[in-house]
Amino acid sequence: MSENEHLLIRAAFKKPVERTPVWVMRQAGRYLAEYRETRKQAGSFLGLCRNPELAAEVSIQPLDLVGVDAVIMFSDILTPLEGMGMDLNFDNGPKFNNPIRTSSDIDALTIPDPSETSWYVGEILNLLRKTLGERAPVIGFAGAPFTLASYMVEGGSSKLFSKTTSLFYNTPELGKKLMDKLTEMTINYMNYQIENGAQMIQLFDTWAGIFPAEDYRKFVFPHVCKIFAGLKGKGTVPRVYYINGGHHLLADMAKTGADVIGLDWKADLGDAKALIGDKVALQGNLNPNILFCDVDKIEERVISILNKWGKDSGHIFNLGHGIDKEVNPDHLRAMVQAVKKHSVR
Ligand code: CP3
Repeated sequence: MSENEHLLIRAAFKKPVERTPVWVMRQAGRYLAEYRETRKQAGSFLGLCRNPELAAEVSIQPLDLVGVDAVIMFSDILTPLEGMGMDLNFDNGPKFNNPIRTSSDIDALTIPDPSETSWYVGEILNLLRKTLGERAPVIGFAGAPFTLASYMVEGGSSKLFSKTTSLFYNTPELGKKLMDKLTEMTINYMNYQIENGAQMIQLFDTWAGIFPAEDYRKFVFPHVCKIFAGLKGKGTVPRVYYINGGHHLLADMAKTGADVIGLDWKADLGDAKALIGDKVALQGNLNPNILFCDVDKIEERVISILNKWGKDSGHIFNLGHGIDKEVNPDHLRAMVQAVKKHSVR
């Protein structure tokens, strides 16, 4: 269906587009009153993730309410870790009651069958495809092994990554053993999403930017390459690879096998295009804080980003990181309208 192919998929593969597609990381979330209402019905965040009907409902909310061009399935990067034996809760941000600190902790992790332990992800994808038809493409996602490892080793969110850093540098063999297991789990989990209808897939390596390039190449890069090499749907299901604070890693990121590289807001889109724009498409990268400004300022910044890319295909508009829960939805709507208005070819 190549001329009817969704704008998002065409942009990801640099095929001709009539304008730039737009979606937003964390677009299904607490900044929407409708999300907060559905989440209340579900009882808890994990309860919402495990309820395919309600999770599909919140996934579709930003399509109807904000006008984005794609639906990202509602879930979290950390939920598949429950299937490996991690005891996850979200009482006050993500927490693991059994953090990974020793070789035997790593040995105890199992490689799950996603159709058993992440069945609700298969169901939500099927439900989204059925409900949406040709209206909008569905994006699946997973956390990349290092980003998952950082949560598992720290036991939750972290600013310093002290335990993760000492594990990887003091005992690189343990770091590798953990990364190998997470890589295998992630390949199975992403292929399960592709088999169940995900039309684009994003690998979130949010924290891999803590490493200098030399160490990123040693600890992280080979595993990410292995994931992309192991995925089904090459050439039809675009793969996006995102790092927050990964501008020093762009040349490496472009060699992982990803079709699209996700930029945070500190990278310059024009510079990134000059560096890797001939190899991959780029996604991003409005500063999420701009959404707290007046709508005319939002429009100005949108135009500035669109101009940095120019009129070629190969740009997917997004924020440089997830949208904050305090953002006024009208401001996000203004951003989406500005992209649609000013990117027409
Ligand atoms: O993008 C979407 O709309 C799809 C859903 C999605 C969520 N998390 C929902 C969520 C996606 C793609 C994620 C990815 C995710 N989760 C990442 C990678 C992207 C990034 O932000 O860098 C990471 C690191 C996580 C881990 C995570 N999940 C954290 C640190 C938190 C707490 C943050 C907070 O704002 O409280 C979560 C919880 C979470 N995941 C929420 C949502 C909507 C908020 C939970 C709630 O409703 O109470």
